[in-house]
Amino acid sequence: TLQLTLAVIKPDAVAHPLILEALHQKIVENFIIIRKKDLAWRRVDSERFYAEHAGRFFYQRLVEFMSSGPMRAYIIAREDAITHWRGMMGPTKVFRARYASSDSLRGQYGLTDTRNTTHGSDSIESARREIAFFFPEFLADEWMKRE
Ligand code: CMP
Repeated sequence: TLQLTLAVIKPDAVAHPLILEALHQKIVENFIIIRKKDLAWRRVDSERFYAEHAGRFFYQRLVEFMSSGPMRAYIIAREDAITHWRGMMGPTKVFRARYASSDSLRGQYGLTDTRNTTHGSDSIESARREIAFFFPEFLADEWMKRE
């Protein structure tokens, strides 16, 4: 059965047309694209989305970075979409991505632990919440029923 997840190409990667295109191609090759949008966050959007990280040492730089320029968001579908996309992204930390998972997207294109090219939901619950955050008009339940 198809599962939905949210994939985001972050400002560091959108800023580089060749990297943006490479990431887009990876998504096209591996998933059905249900929705796609280019957008940019204000600081408050960033703070709201990452509220669970408030207080962590990297929170300020994360909030600043995610509201620093345009992003591209996708609702994507396939079997085990959440796990598959996270596997393609690779580890959050750039050191681990580079050395333990060098063919992952973050391993190839990640710059730092913060500027790590992509985001993916980590559970069914966060996929539901995050899809609604980026695509408030999308009716996930209706869509799943149609499948
Ligand atoms: P993401 O998958 O979007 O979820 C939280 C984000 O916080 C993460 O990607 C990184 O961009 C950032 N992040 C997580 N851990 C660290 C860290 N140790 N140092 C800096 N940024 C981090």
